[in-house]
Amino acid sequence: MNRRTHRHTKLGGVTYPPGVMFVTPVMFIHRDPAVWGDDAGEFNPGRFADGVSKACKDPSAFVPFSWGSRVCIGQNFALLEAKAAICMILQRFAFELSPAYVHAPYTVLTLHPQHGVPVRLRRL
Ligand code: HEM
Repeated sequence: MNRRTHRHTKLGGVTYPPGVMFVTPVMFIHRDPAVWGDDAGEFNPGRFADGVSKACKDPSAFVPFSWGSRVCIGQNFALLEAKAAICMILQRFAFELSPAYVHAPYTVLTLHPQHGVPVRLRRL
């Protein structure tokens, strides 16, 4: 998430001139062991079992859809769509990550797998 100053702006005791671009390093905030614990780098959806507030020390550090007045307007739709799609797939298939998968996250607004996520489907 990028933000540009349009006038002199004081932030954290520093005054920035107009035109300065701030980049929020969401990927690193979401993997900060100080917030998420020592296993911050591990894929563990179970950490959200009791909601975001119990998953980390500071719920405001979970910002996949941004935060505040410019929060993603598609958030609820996107989460519903993802759940519906996964439900439809799981009714028909089991799947596992293909050995061809190469872990290469990169940022294009949100975090993307640079070479896609090849999976192996097995019809149930
Ligand atoms: C997993 C899916 C999605 C993710 C992770 C996501 C993430 C984000 C993020 C991080 C922002 C804020 C960008 C910023 O503040 O600089 C944003 C804004 C926005 N998103 Fe999404 N988004 C998703 C899906 C969608 C969908 C499905 C829609 C529309 C149907 C949508 C519409 C928008 C719009 C219109 C904004 C701009 C809101 C504003 O600036 O007031 N997004 N999204």
